[in-house]
Amino acid sequence: MVLRLDVQHDLLVKVSRNTLIHPSIPTGKVVSIADIATGTGIWLRDLSRSLSEVPGVQRYYHGFDISSAQFPPADDSIKFSVHDITVPFPEEHWNRYDLVHVRLLVAALAEPDYRAAVANIYQLLKPGGYMQWEEIDEETYIADNVAFQEIRRCFNLGLKAEGKYFQASAKVYHESQSAGFRDVVRVEYSSHWDAGLRPSTEQRFVAIIGTLYTSLLLRSAQVPDEEAASKKGEELIERFRQLCAQGESPPVKLMRVVGQKPLHEVV
Ligand SMILES: C[S@@+](CC[C@H](N)C(=O)[O-])C[C@H]1O[C@@H](n2cnc3c(N)ncnc32)[C@H](O)[C@@H]1O
Repeated sequence: MVLRLDVQHDLLVKVSRNTLIHPSIPTGKVVSIADIATGTGIWLRDLSRSLSEVPGVQRYYHGFDISSAQFPPADDSIKFSVHDITVPFPEEHWNRYDLVHVRLLVAALAEPDYRAAVANIYQLLKPGGYMQWEEIDEETYIADNVAFQEIRRCFNLGLKAEGKYFQASAKVYHESQSAGFRDVVRVEYSSHWDAGLRPSTEQRFVAIIGTLYTSLLLRSAQVPDEEAASKKGEELIERFRQLCAQGESPPVKLMRVVGQKPLHEVV
């Protein structure tokens, strides 16, 4: 799992044209950074490496996750805490961060959770601070590719059965505007910008079919048992590979929502 998240991180950074942070966010002003649902902390670790190339600024990094299971061994450079994004953060973190990042919560949050999550991020940010929330959600699977249509059908049904919400980035976009963020944008990055990303993108989809697809089939009772779920998964992987070999290799789309907390609250 740890390795999977770290490999996936490398792909997603390349998909977003090698940007850890959207170019509209002034990195020179980003001194205090939080990453929520941080997992292994790979995004924070990569960001701290990349920002350390600009010497002379002492930065503060804090990763939060609902579980500490994937946190890296403790060191002084990055702090990690267990926290659920849908619950307000301890007051010591309010108005503390110039940038709050979130990535890949689509399989974890129910529709109403997004409003609470965005409000909690708003509370963490200093006036003028930025939120950047990234997802691979339904947008990736809106495609002619028949294997994708099957994944989309299964995810829509499976996530709904668990009270989760597949249109994550569209929801974050609307909730951010309602929460008071300004200059909110939703940007789509496609792996098709670089043909060299095709093999790793195809591998990622094969992994998604073998894990999330098969487990959602089973969890939402779309198949009777584990054996039927893996059989359906294997058949879909086969079909997906055939389509890719015929030149129908689909892109992964990373949806990135960026917004700024106003410098002055409107009263
Ligand atoms: C798919 S992983 C993504 C990890 C990391 N953001 C990345 O992109 O590498 C999802 C992470 O969200 C965490 N998570 C799930 N529900 C959460 C919640 N309500 N609050 C905070 N973290 C949560 C999980 O523990 C897991 O580490």
